[in-house]
Amino acid sequence: MSSKQSFMKRRAEILDGNRIAAEIKREVKDAVTRLAETSDVQPCLVAIRVGDDPASSVYVRNKVRVSQELGLKSEHLALLDETTTEELLATIEVLNGREDVDGILVQLPLPAHVDERRVLERVNPGKDVDGFHPVNIGRLILNQPTLLPCTPAGIIELLKRSNIPLSGARACVVGRSHIVGRPVVQLLLQEDATVTVCHSRTSDLASVTSQADILVVAIGRTAHIRGEHIKPGATVVDVGMNKITDEEEARELFGEAAERRINQIRERGYTLVGDVHPSEAESVAGRLTPVPGGVGPLTVAMLMRNTLQAALMRRGIEEVSSER
Ligand code: GUN
Repeated sequence: MSSKQSFMKRRAEILDGNRIAAEIKREVKDAVTRLAETSDVQPCLVAIRVGDDPASSVYVRNKVRVSQELGLKSEHLALLDETTTEELLATIEVLNGREDVDGILVQLPLPAHVDERRVLERVNPGKDVDGFHPVNIGRLILNQPTLLPCTPAGIIELLKRSNIPLSGARACVVGRSHIVGRPVVQLLLQEDATVTVCHSRTSDLASVTSQADILVVAIGRTAHIRGEHIKPGATVVDVGMNKITDEEEARELFGEAAERRINQIRERGYTLVGDVHPSEAESVAGRLTPVPGGVGPLTVAMLMRNTLQAALMRRGIEEVSSER
């Protein structure tokens, strides 16, 4: 086969986030079962949602459902859109003080009138299962034991469990958000990768991203990363979750898989696309996370692991799980 033919025929290996998330959830479930056998502790997660953003309610309901599947206790506080910052702070204070609550999660985004920074800073860092509190971010940067942000921690688990070498690898993170980009940079550094960060002001993006063995993209822009941005054979982690409604756009993005996506648009009005152009990436990358079914499921799995970890840390229990 000529090199051109082999290039044309290349199909990236799809990194199955659902499979790896299931593995992590099983580990958490086993650890929760062992904990119940050896103590009377049942870790408890409380998820707070303010207002009626439909996407947020789906996410929170999913988090509560999965926690119940794994034997965790969970509560879902759905607060009215008019809830003030002070009222939300008071709710968090109550949860901080409750001995039976191990994890507190405030679903973002909050309504515009709520002071997100004050809210996130009020969560007891020991119960901050999202890893968003400045104390936990500080510990992350200092490489101290802490509750890690779920999506970044999930990305590292996905890479490790897929046997992708991190030490010495050239990694490039596109996006510098507090929730994904910045923490993922820190975690990759801790794994001894050589990390470059790109963002909306990076000039000649492709010249930087195309050097990377591992490319992590979290910018919230539909299919922004094209074939030319990707080093042939690289591992591409696509954190984006964008909805598209246009059938022609789906045809352009998905190539052979377009029919299934067009059917989705017809059936439910949209299909999900990442920040990476799916069919171009598939023909250039060596490995690729799909959207959906890549990074998303790992975020929830890591939240469950954080809730267990928070319960153990707060009680000074060492280790009940056999997780890596
Ligand atoms: N909104 C989008 N992603 C997240 C997340 O990981 N945690 C919370 N709390 N809100 C989010």
